[in-house]
Amino acid sequence: MKKRILTGDRPTGKLHLGHYIGSLQNRVQLQDTYDCYFIIADLHTLTTKPQKNEILALRDNINEMVIDYLSCGVDSEKSTIYLQSECPAVYEMNLIFEMLISLNRLKGLPSIKEMAKNAHIDEESIPFGLVGYPILQAADILMPRAHVVPVGKDNEAHIELTRVIARRFNQYYGEVFPLPEVLLSNTPSLIGIDGKGKMSKSAGNAIFLSDDPKTVEKKVKTMYTDPNRIHADTPGTVEGNPVFIYHEIFNPNRDEVLDLKERYRKGTVGDVEVKEKLSFAINQFLAPIREKREMLMADKGLVEEIVYKGTRKMQEISNETLKEMRSAMGLKGGWNKISRIARKRMEDAL
Ligand code: TRP
Repeated sequence: MKKRILTGDRPTGKLHLGHYIGSLQNRVQLQDTYDCYFIIADLHTLTTKPQKNEILALRDNINEMVIDYLSCGVDSEKSTIYLQSECPAVYEMNLIFEMLISLNRLKGLPSIKEMAKNAHIDEESIPFGLVGYPILQAADILMPRAHVVPVGKDNEAHIELTRVIARRFNQYYGEVFPLPEVLLSNTPSLIGIDGKGKMSKSAGNAIFLSDDPKTVEKKVKTMYTDPNRIHADTPGTVEGNPVFIYHEIFNPNRDEVLDLKERYRKGTVGDVEVKEKLSFAINQFLAPIREKREMLMADKGLVEEIVYKGTRKMQEISNETLKEMRSAMGLKGGWNKISRIARKRMEDAL
């Protein structure tokens, strides 16, 4: 039996090259060795954006995200892609797990403060549900009893809390859950085209997987390079230069990259050429992804069908887990059945 993996994303919109490098690529590779579950964590977005218009906007985001997954090679025959909010068990598991972790432990997490800051929520107004974000995440992970959770560094502490919850559950009620292991991505996050920080949609420094060739060209043209290089014949710095970082990752023509680097250091190549070659490389890289995207978009209803099937599968798995949890906890008191004596009373009263 294959071990199970659970990971996923909040559906905040279309994905970019940073997502590909940081997680998508990895997920595609893991699909063959593991039984993979990819969650579309729509409920988690409510922790900072509970308003109705935000919820309504999720639909498009979900669609974009699933198309991005699939066009990068996530295979719905191998992996299960499912929608969190459509698995009722998660609300129930969340409540039970809330009893198994201290508020202090949650309050100490930098990730929660970070999310609040990004959403412009001040400390005093942090919703209860945002503090409970990792508990909901534990419910996601423990629902299919996942063994391995591939995430970025920012989520590492959440997986540790999942282990705390699982350990305590097992201690109180009996062995129901494996203790999930975190699998940290070893690729550092991709720098944005502005060279300021990591690539992110909100920073406006992203090249999206769905960008067309012209857009890629335009974005690459604006890329931050070596600010000290005023003329094409000034020797430039390659290290930490976003244009060369991207060349390293996306340009499979190693000789060309070496040549460009050498000439850049000597001051015998202009930024224009370096960037033109980079756009070409990125567009080559994106070409098969675009082709897959076209196919998926032309196949009306396909994405919906994939999420529907994945969600149905997870619903079944979650019912099984929930049944075992309730039974282990002694919550299954038989109150949903009625004894013969009680039934007679009811009938007599009629
Ligand atoms: N917390 C993840 C994020 O930062 C999303 C997520 C929700 C998740 N549930 C999960 C990741 C379970 C891994 C496992 O977007």
